[in-house]
Amino acid sequence: MKPALTFLVILVSILGTTVNGCDCKMVQFIFGDSLSDVGNNQHLSSSLAKANLPWYGIDFGNGFPNGRFTNGRTVSDIIGDATGLPRPPAFLDPSLTEDVILKNGANYASGGGGILNETGVYFIQRLCFYKQIELFQGTQEVIRRKIGKQEADKFFQNAQYVVGLGSNDFINNYEVPVYSDSWNYNDQSFLNYLMETLRAQLQLLHSLGARKLKLLGLGPMGCIPLQRVLSLSGGCQEKTNQLAIRFNQAADKLINELSRSLPDASFRFADAYDVVRHIIRNPGKYGFSNIDSPCCSFGQIRPALTCIPSSTLCKDRSKYLFWDEYHPSDSANQIIASELMKKFRQPPRGNHTEAPSPSPATAPSPW
Ligand SMILES: *[C@@H]1O[C@H](CO)[C@@H](O)[C@H](O)[C@H]1NC(C)=O
Ligand SMILES: *[C@@H]1O[C@H](CO)[C@@H](O)[C@H](O)[C@H]1NC(C)=O
Repeated sequence: MKPALTFLVILVSILGTTVNGCDCKMVQFIFGDSLSDVGNNQHLSSSLAKANLPWYGIDFGNGFPNGRFTNGRTVSDIIGDATGLPRPPAFLDPSLTEDVILKNGANYASGGGGILNETGVYFIQRLCFYKQIELFQGTQEVIRRKIGKQEADKFFQNAQYVVGLGSNDFINNYEVPVYSDSWNYNDQSFLNYLMETLRAQLQLLHSLGARKLKLLGLGPMGCIPLQRVLSLSGGCQEKTNQLAIRFNQAADKLINELSRSLPDASFRFADAYDVVRHIIRNPGKYGFSNIDSPCCSFGQIRPALTCIPSSTLCKDRSKYLFWDEYHPSDSANQIIASELMKKFRQPPRGNHTEAPSPSPATAPSPW
């Protein structure tokens, strides 16, 4: 290595530690549902929401099922990769150790999970958001034992937090008549209930050290293949889409409020609702040939709840918006992730009462 370069590397690493105030790496902690699960449900022995059969993961790594509910990458995989952050492993992966967490973070997302504890009970086993936070508290405990409280506090304050939940609270709770929430609430009171719960959960995460947090909003969930087959016309369920729009508006407001009121909080919200609607109206523009049925499907038997070994696959997976009845394909996730990153890069919405503080030139701008 040339002396000048050596000097630069040393300088950068000194600056790096000073800027971050921490010797530790920046990692991510991810909380979510099947859109972000990277294998937790595979380790829940009686969960009915599992992506452990072919053809899940066919376009990822060695092509074997890895616990992701899609053919390739999740949205969080793509966003993390683009920012140079390591992909956090599934928290329930038996090979997870303190060293792995310090290096790569952890992902607590679980298929079927919701903001509400009661969401998704018919999957028997899944981790709701509160349970995921409880597991995160356990993680903090072991990390504190490993590196001490002071370093651990810095590590957790320096980390990026990603939260993506809410679809299941509608699709696998409020909209399903077997759930009591469907008759105890109306649209507005259910939304209020969700937001109160989410507010308490995000405040809890903040009290545990989360400072940089991204909340991922909902897409047009009334247009997933499973919802389309509910109507004779095969069109989107607009009532469900309206719920997603209202959730996004309320969550955006909540995040802005929390970001202003919680000390040192930099909380951001973004959704990809509009871009997915735009793809559905103009598939060709985005390179899609099919926007209404799953690439992996069980022929005429629809809805087939998951993609199974005897399902047939579409010819070109990159041209399908949906991988299975619920979940977008890898190529859809790429577009969704790009849209979210674009929104996260924009200055926070707000009422501009605070002058933007000049950021030091060396500060990395995450997402
Ligand atoms: C939700 O679940 C968490 C743990 O998983 C529990 O501590 C909490 O009391 C539950 N809340 C409600 C309202 O049932
Ligand atoms: C602007 O921000 C201030 C301080 O946070 C708040 O009191 C006020 O209500 C906000 N105004 C609007 C229009 O949001």
